[in-house]
Amino acid sequence: MARRFANPSETKERVPLKKRALDAMDNFKGSQFMTSVFRPGSIFRKGYTDSPRNRSYVVMNSVLYHLHPVKVKRHAVKVSYTLCLGGLSFFLFIMLTVTGIFLMFFYRPTAAQAWNDIRTLQTSVTFGLLVRNMHRWAAHLMVLSVFLHMARVFYHGAYKPPREFNWVIGVILLTLTLLLSFTGYLLPWDQLALWAVTVGTNMMGYTPVFGQQVRFVLLGGVEISTDTLLRWYVLHVLMFPFVIVIFMAVHFWRVRKDGGISGPL
Ligand code: HEM
Repeated sequence: MARRFANPSETKERVPLKKRALDAMDNFKGSQFMTSVFRPGSIFRKGYTDSPRNRSYVVMNSVLYHLHPVKVKRHAVKVSYTLCLGGLSFFLFIMLTVTGIFLMFFYRPTAAQAWNDIRTLQTSVTFGLLVRNMHRWAAHLMVLSVFLHMARVFYHGAYKPPREFNWVIGVILLTLTLLLSFTGYLLPWDQLALWAVTVGTNMMGYTPVFGQQVRFVLLGGVEISTDTLLRWYVLHVLMFPFVIVIFMAVHFWRVRKDGGISGPL
């Protein structure tokens, strides 16, 4: 063995491992399987050249990549510019959805069962207390992060044209976030929730002209009862999440259409 390596011309003929791996990869990319699955110009097919135009095609033509922008401004990916607060708000929303689905398996929205279900969830269900607390903390944090995101947008003047429409969508998102938080607050059906909702609905009862009607709709009756719980439960788990998802989709789409994230000050 020592003699073989001593001869430099012999070692040159040996194909380096890296080249062999690249050749194997090239052959795989040129295989019938890869050419029939991926479109011409894809990085997964043989013959792809790394040019700005091809990069754009890859993003535009891929089912996975097409949600991403073709080009991203350098400052837009700097954490110090957005502080990732919009992304964080979205992450918290996903977390709330996942933990909320878990909670739904153990919770029944009636005055007789709600509080007991929450107590059983905390004491007898595996990871019940953890998931409930994750849901609660994520809700508090989402209100905070959405508010801070709004403050960041305001500080950078990103509410000005062409982003004024997205600012309005943002205000609707903030309102929906607060409504989700408030409707969720009633669900444990404990003293804290009961009196918070009593105060809230009484305040809304002072709406000029339609005050009593507004209060009636919110309570599902003339006073707080199991009907109120059912009403707020449906709003919390179905109506508001559904509406907020639609507005979030419009919000993200507008960020792209308005030319990406605004520039630094
Ligand atoms: C559920 C709440 C919200 C979510 C998930 C969300 C998400 C996002 C994301 C991911 C971005 C991209 C840049 C970034 O992270 O800063 C963004 C940008 C933006 N958001 Fe929100 N947002 C929410 C609420 C709001 C609110 C309350 C406002 C204002 C009232 C707002 C106004 C804007 C504007 C104007 C931009 C463009 C910013 C720029 O170009 O610098 N958003 N949002």
